[in-house]
Amino acid sequence: MRTPKIIGIAGSFNRPSKTRSLVCHVAEVVSDRYGFNVDVYDMIDVGPSLGAALWRKQLDEKAQHVLQEIAAADALIIGAPTYKGSYPGLFKHLIDLIDPHELKSKPILITATGGGNRHALMVEHQLRPLFGFFMAHTLPTAVYASDHDFLDYAVASEHLSKRIDEAVSEMDVFFPGRVPTYEAAE
Ligand SMILES: Cc1cc2nc3c(=O)[nH]c(=O)nc-3n(C[C@H](O)[C@H](O)[C@H](O)COP(=O)(O)O)c2cc1C
Repeated sequence: MRTPKIIGIAGSFNRPSKTRSLVCHVAEVVSDRYGFNVDVYDMIDVGPSLGAALWRKQLDEKAQHVLQEIAAADALIIGAPTYKGSYPGLFKHLIDLIDPHELKSKPILITATGGGNRHALMVEHQLRPLFGFFMAHTLPTAVYASDHDFLDYAVASEHLSKRIDEAVSEMDVFFPGRVPTYEAAE
């Protein structure tokens, strides 16, 4: 049986980045739970051709590769930093270059980071409708993390870890027959 491939996208162009750290952390939990292959890309991996590209064909190889990985993924982990109450414009531009059919029915675990908790519903009011357009299966539990949830850019709060576990376990239904690896070991 082919091992499913999960792709994480962090919509930040900072390094270090809390968003990338959160997406990588979720990806690790997915990998530990199911044994799936995971790869994470951020906006630095996408590179500068994105900002100048009006059409997908104008992207360079690096950016094309990330879009191909997104389209081919069995599930996505999406993370965006909150900018002015929403996702960053450049991240939206990347998503704008995805064809609608490429995300149809794809399971997507939604995450976001922000400076504080005031915009915690950004995941529900901005990210979820965006992927609703694509008719993707956004998982019911979305994950939002603020500055207080990180220590040196690493996930450091118990309630955040618990929320991540809840969200990841909602992938079970999309991969029937894939026993979580820790259950198989018992
Ligand atoms: C241009 C800009 C706008 C921001 N707007 C918000 C905001 O509206 N609400 C919020 O909670 N944080 C806001 N922030 C803070 C970032 O969302 C927060 O620091 C985020 O975790 C940064 O992610 P990163 O480390 O992955 O780049 C903003 C930051 C920048 C640079």
